[in-house]
Amino acid sequence: MADGTQPFAFTAEVEAATLPLWEKVHKHVTPMEWRMQAPLIAAINALKRQKHAVILAHNYMTPEIFHGVGDYVGDSLGLAREAARSDARIIVQAGVKFMAETSKVLCPDKTVLIPDLRAGCSLAASITAADVRLIRRRYPDLPIVAYVNTTAEVKAEIDICCTSANAVQVVEQIAAEWGVDKVVLLPDEFLARNVARQTAVKIVSWQGRCEVHERFDADDIRELRAAYPNAEILAHPECPAEVIELSDFAGSTAAMQNYVMTRKPKQVVLITECSMADNVACEAPETEFVRPCNLCPHMKRITLENIYDCLLYDRYEVLVDEDVAARARLAVQRMIDLPPPLKPARYDMVKARHHVDVELI
Ligand code: 13P
Ligand code: SF4
Repeated sequence: MADGTQPFAFTAEVEAATLPLWEKVHKHVTPMEWRMQAPLIAAINALKRQKHAVILAHNYMTPEIFHGVGDYVGDSLGLAREAARSDARIIVQAGVKFMAETSKVLCPDKTVLIPDLRAGCSLAASITAADVRLIRRRYPDLPIVAYVNTTAEVKAEIDICCTSANAVQVVEQIAAEWGVDKVVLLPDEFLARNVARQTAVKIVSWQGRCEVHERFDADDIRELRAAYPNAEILAHPECPAEVIELSDFAGSTAAMQNYVMTRKPKQVVLITECSMADNVACEAPETEFVRPCNLCPHMKRITLENIYDCLLYDRYEVLVDEDVAARARLAVQRMIDLPPPLKPARYDMVKARHHVDVELI
């Protein structure tokens, strides 16, 4: 700095202010890393107060972000609900772009920032609004449900949104409302296959994939079972159905977290993105985590450094065209207005083992 002071020095003051956090994350962050991270965490938290901003952090953020600067943390559904409730002037989305767009759609009067505009998602990139218009022409009598992992333009063309936490509930609700026995569920083929096994409603699906979860396969689970016979295996429903079939539990990231916190397994495997286990492990010291994880390159674009710059320079603002936002809002709000589950929904593992076909577009 021009006056010679170091903006991010690990001073005694910073050390004292961040001590409770250090105690939480110390098994997952080295003391050397902490000396770099703690000053930034303190600076970000001060800037947040100054600018009346909140940080919504997804479960896939690294522990120093998730525990250090996240005001609201959780799965996609939880973050969307928090965005809708927030009275902050600025929302910083520590997650990927479709999440920031969802926040902007729900809060058009707030400034929504994302620390790196390149934080995309293979699912959101797999389908366009034009694709959905063609699907509507092909299936005019069927409701279209889209996973929240889609762009605002796609959400503007659909009837209702869902997340992995409420997909079965949404599909059943919309089928009943329309008086039909079939629903289009976009764009994740694997989520669609896993949902199809949970409900009598027939599913038509797109062939989008999450690049993180599609890499797990049945052999991975068999090998884990052989190597760790006592471990409980929890998988995300974006994984292939054969993976879910062989697991002990399936649910959203919040449902996995809830499972570990309430059932306190001795040993657990989370079949999902890498940071998830680190974040839960910080709060579940009695559980041992086996970590065969995959990194999401998009989530990992978000760092303490770019969160600080994002708050300091008000960048990068996420904007959604007003007409698109108004139409997308209907689909997201319909989902938010559904009664929240008493605890994060879990997939029925007996049903998860019954093969049910989906119609692929
Ligand atoms: P949930 O947090 O809703 O389970 O979604 C996982 C995911 O892949 C988000 O990008
Ligand atoms: Fe998209 Fe998968 Fe990354 Fe989530 S984990 S942001 S679904 S690519």
